This record gives sequence, C-alpha cells and structure tokens, in this order.
Amino acid sequence: MPREKVVFVCNVCGYEAYKWMGHCPECQGWNTIMEERIKNVNALKTPSPREPGELKELNEIKSSLEERFSTGIEELDRVLGGGVVPGTVILVGGDPGIGKSTLLLQAALGLASQDCDLIYVTGEESLSQVKMRADRLSLPQVSLKVLAETEYGRIAEQIEKNNPQVVVVDSIQAIMKSELGNVPGSVVQVREITASLTHLAKSRQITFFIIGHVTKEGAIAGPRLLEHMVDCVLYFEGERYQSFRILRSIKNRFGPTNEIGIFTMESSGLQEVQNPSALFLNQRPQNMPGSSVVPTMEGTRPLLVEIQALVTPSYFGGTPRRTSTGLDHNRAAIIIAVLEKRAGMQLFNCDIFINVVGGVKIMEPAADLGIALSIASSLRDKPLLEQTLIVGEIGLTGEVRPVSRIEERLREGLKMGFSRCIVPQGNISGNFLSNTKEIKKDLEIVSVATLTQALNIVFP
Ligand code: TYD
Ligand code: MG
Repeated sequence: MPREKVVFVCNVCGYEAYKWMGHCPECQGWNTIMEERIKNVNALKTPSPREPGELKELNEIKSSLEERFSTGIEELDRVLGGGVVPGTVILVGGDPGIGKSTLLLQAALGLASQDCDLIYVTGEESLSQVKMRADRLSLPQVSLKVLAETEYGRIAEQIEKNNPQVVVVDSIQAIMKSELGNVPGSVVQVREITASLTHLAKSRQITFFIIGHVTKEGAIAGPRLLEHMVDCVLYFEGERYQSFRILRSIKNRFGPTNEIGIFTMESSGLQEVQNPSALFLNQRPQNMPGSSVVPTMEGTRPLLVEIQALVTPSYFGGTPRRTSTGLDHNRAAIIIAVLEKRAGMQLFNCDIFINVVGGVKIMEPAADLGIALSIASSLRDKPLLEQTLIVGEIGLTGEVRPVSRIEERLREGLKMGFSRCIVPQGNISGNFLSNTKEIKKDLEIVSVATLTQALNIVFP
C-alpha cells in the first residue's frame, strides 16, 4: 500500500512546510503556500544525478564544449553561446502564445534536417495539431519523431528505447508522474520531473529543450527552483500585438548571458531578423522633440535603438510621475537629478516618461547621454540635431565618461546611414584615431567631456 503524504509547498520558491502558513519564511511571499497531496512518497526518491564519484585529473576530462552543434537557427545558436552543448538542459520560458512551441518546433525541424536524432514530446497539443503547425512553417519536409504523451514514465521509456540526441518537451507543466498525484504543473510535479529529466540528460548525454510557462509574477511557473536545476534559461518575450520577439538568455552555464536573438512572427512561423537596427528605427518620427538614437551593445552585437522622452508639467502637485520602460528606473532618476543640478533644468515639477522603443531593455550606462538629451529635447520642445547618434555614460558631476567598444557602435551607425556621432572625449585616444580612419570619412565624430557641452552641440 503506497504511503500518501500531504505537503505544503511555496509555489514561488519551493519551500516545504508541514502545515499551512500565510507567509513563506524562505522567500517572504504572502499566500504562496499551497497544499499538495503526494500519492506515493516512495516515488519522490529521485535518483542521484551522476554515477558514484571518482577522482580524476582535470586535464584528462574531455570537454563537451567542443562538440557544440547548431540548431539551424542562427539567433538561437547565438543566445546559447554558439550552439547547443550535448547533455544540457535548456529551459525556454515565456508568456502563453508568444511562440515558444513554434520556436522549438522550428529548431526541431532544423536539427532533424541535419540528421540529428530527435524526439518532440508534446503534452499540450495533439499529433495533428503539431502536424498542422509544421505544415504552416514553410520548411522542407523532414522526418521528425513526435510523441503525444503526458505521463513521465512512458516518455522516459521511449527516450531510453530510442536513445535520441535531443528531446524537446512541450511543456514541463503538462507532464506528470501519476504516482505523485493527479495535478500536472504543481510544484512537486514540476520539480520532480525536471530532476528526472536532468538525470537522463547527464547520464545519457541527451540535450533537453524544456518549455515552461511564465506565471503572472514573471517567474517560470512553479518555483524559481526550476531555474537553478537546469543549465540554461532562455526567456522568449515580446509585445503580444507586435510581431517581433526577443529571445534572451537569463542563465547559461556554457556561454554569456547578455546575448539576445531577435525574430519576427510571420504567418509562416518565426523569421530571424538580419538587421535589427533597421527594424527598430524604421518607424522613427523625423525631427520630433524627445527622440534620440543610441548605439547600445546587446552581447556581442551593436544595436541602434530609439529613446523617447516626454516631459509635461505636473499640474496636480504632489510627487511628479516618473515612468520608464526598457531601462532601469534608478538610472533614470540619477540622470534626471544630474540634468537638474548640473545643467540647470527645472524638472522637479514635471512628469517624465521615458520609453525605449521596440521592447528592448537597455541595461548599460552607455545610453545615459541619449536619455538625458531626449529629456532635454522634450523639455525645450526642440528636436535634437538631425542624423546624430549619441553615446556616453554620465557621472554625478555631469561629466561624460568613456564607453566600451566604441568602434563597433560607430560602424553600426555608419551602416544605418547616420552622419554624426557624439562620443565621450575619454574615448578619443591614439588607438581609436588610427582604428577609425575609414569611419571618419563618412561619420563626423564630435567629442564631449561634459553634459553641458553635449547640450550646446545638439541644440544649435
Ligand atoms: P505558439 O508557439 O503556440 O505559442 P506558445 O507555445 O508560446 O504558447 O504560438 C502562438 C502564436 O503564434 C499564435 O497566436 C499564432 C501565432 N503563429 C503565427 O503567427 N504564425 C505561425 O506560423 C505560427 C505557427 C503561429
Ligand atoms: Mg505552446
């Protein structure tokens, strides 16, 4: 007779308690602890993830990094750090309907066309739905093994029998171990299944792509715990009503985490965007106050984005509104304070709204000067100097500090037809001057040391 057990699990952090509590002592969340019934406690014993440990010389261990393989989707490879490492578990999260299933089906078809042995497990759609989706994607027909199943045991059986190189699981919340209980997607289920899949991945060198839905708090449903268990976490994001989608790496044990991949959702599936700067700038208003263009670095790739600011009088007294999307709120507050103190602008009685166009998030301080000049431009209701890129970090005394990888940023600007760039004086050195000879033929480089200097240049 299997022993039943009732546990109380926090659905944010996975903390387990023996009685219900309104407040989770681990993650301090309120009302996050739920009751879960485990039908058979013995099923909880997940196998240890590796063979019994043996002592080895580090130099003698073979690295599987060299065996990276491509998914056939360049943007996905880039986000993974240059392809898939065998034996890793990759979690792809995102809101419902954003295109996770489409992305991974495309990747699966891409891999299958390179003769990669792959199983696509679908727990959410029927086989005919997967077929319809595959037909919609205008990709060459290839043979792909699809399994519509939600019971973990039967999925593991198929994997052990076929021993594929790659398995796609759509989605982790739809799969369950029925010996644990009958609710798929509960914290205990999600955690146990991920642990078992990780074990399979490591012991058989199988790569798993796992789809996970995102809860309204923005974490991958079930506990954050899941993110600790896997090797790589990717988020697929985008505005529901716009066609472009951004794939972002949140965690990667085998590559950088600042890379993004950019796609558009078309009627025939996801298309890779070859020239993202053009996509983000194509609807830019000409000669409007409050708009500036900044060359940012997204991982290894330069990207031109538009920053818009709107400054309006705050009529009702009280604290003025300060809203920013796509950038750090605190950073924006610092820039506003510097404008006020060092450039003498009166902003304390203004509402300020800042937006990075196109759903991109700018985390690097190199965009500071662009943000500041957008705000100044909106306040004065005067457009900035035309065809001008702006780059530079702002310090608290109003100085403009040098940024990294200036040449790549300038080249991207040149490619997109800009004729002038405002750069920090600190970036102009002997090395820079000799490296950028051919850029300077077509791009006027204006160097500034302070915010006030920059303001004088952009408002002629
Ligand atoms: P889907 O991959 O099912 O999203 P998820 O798995 O993240 O829930 O994609 C859902 C949306 O994408 C759906 O609203 C229809 C749209 N779509 C297209 O626009 N073109 C296509 O070729 C496909 C397959 C889907
Ligand atoms: Mg789906």
